[in-house]
Amino acid sequence: MPQLLGDVQELFNEYSSELKGVEQELLNLFNSTAFLIPAIGNYIVRSGGKRLRPLFLILSAELCEYREYPRILLASIIEAIHTASLLHDDVVDGADLRRGKPTAHSLWGNQVVILVGDFLYSNALKMAVSHKNQKIMDALSFATTKMTEGELLQLSKIGDPDISEDEYIQIISAKTGALISAACRIGAILSQKGSEQEDRLGAFGLKTGIAFQMVDDILDYMAREDDLGKRLCKDLDEGKVTMPIIHLLKVCDNKEREFVRTLLSDGIKENDHVKELNRLFRKYDVIEESMKIAADYVKDAKAELDGFCMSPEKERLLCLAEYALKRSK
Ligand code: IPE
Ligand code: IPE
Ligand code: MG
Ligand code: MG
Repeated sequence: MPQLLGDVQELFNEYSSELKGVEQELLNLFNSTAFLIPAIGNYIVRSGGKRLRPLFLILSAELCEYREYPRILLASIIEAIHTASLLHDDVVDGADLRRGKPTAHSLWGNQVVILVGDFLYSNALKMAVSHKNQKIMDALSFATTKMTEGELLQLSKIGDPDISEDEYIQIISAKTGALISAACRIGAILSQKGSEQEDRLGAFGLKTGIAFQMVDDILDYMAREDDLGKRLCKDLDEGKVTMPIIHLLKVCDNKEREFVRTLLSDGIKENDHVKELNRLFRKYDVIEESMKIAADYVKDAKAELDGFCMSPEKERLLCLAEYALKRSK
């Protein structure tokens, strides 16, 4: 289990048997006679992952007083979609490290990994269809199409220093918010408590997901590489203009702006570039300001749950939303 902070560690411990069940069902989704599929499945499932999205689904279901087994199955379907998106994303980004290990495509090659990702997406949706619940299918298909749109929108903005904060939010809402939103919405759908609860939990998940990705983009500059399990300053090298850079470009002077623009077009070529960027981050409190924006999203997310009375279930979900801000990996 990953190292998490305080309360959230307890929360993950409390749900360890549910999450073990999710992991087993996730492995089942890689069942195939095409041997590369279970081989890659084993590699990726055993390499860890926080299992955040499954926990969002399970806690949302419990907030709506639903505790039946299908919540475990649906949580594994959500994690499978997340896993498929990471397989593809690492190819698209040319990333070499994920969860502290070599990425699947660096071991098996792009062709195999793209196809295994396709298999996993389709098999997850096939498993979902067997629940014969139109609302669940709507939520899942909406999320998967949004995620791809988000990744494409992001590609169209690669290296663009003029990207607006709104456009950035649109990208992260789609690529990350949509799936966390679906996880929370599906928890409510399972309970059959009605569309008001579904919409509230959907909105909660979307806003939490936006904050989660924003913090991921902040951690890209200031995490410990060993904690994060991914290479640092990767976003800038990939030409991804994220919250810290958007904020810096807004507040810095012309000469500094020219420096940042050059980094975006040419990439980080030397250690001094990282040092200078960090100096500018400190000079303008970029990390603190970016964290404030993420914290505002979490605050708004929590407010979406105002309609639910306080209960241990609600407290758990609020704690998980807070974790988006506190995490180091
Ligand atoms: C990674 O998601 C991709 C993002 C949306 C930032 P996670 O940080 O949830 O990845 P794992 O599953 O825990 O490795
Ligand atoms: C993660 O996006 C993939 C999706 C959300 C679909 P990023 O490319 O920003 O995240 P990391 O840094 O690779 O985990
Ligand atoms: Mg990536
Ligand atoms: Mg990132």
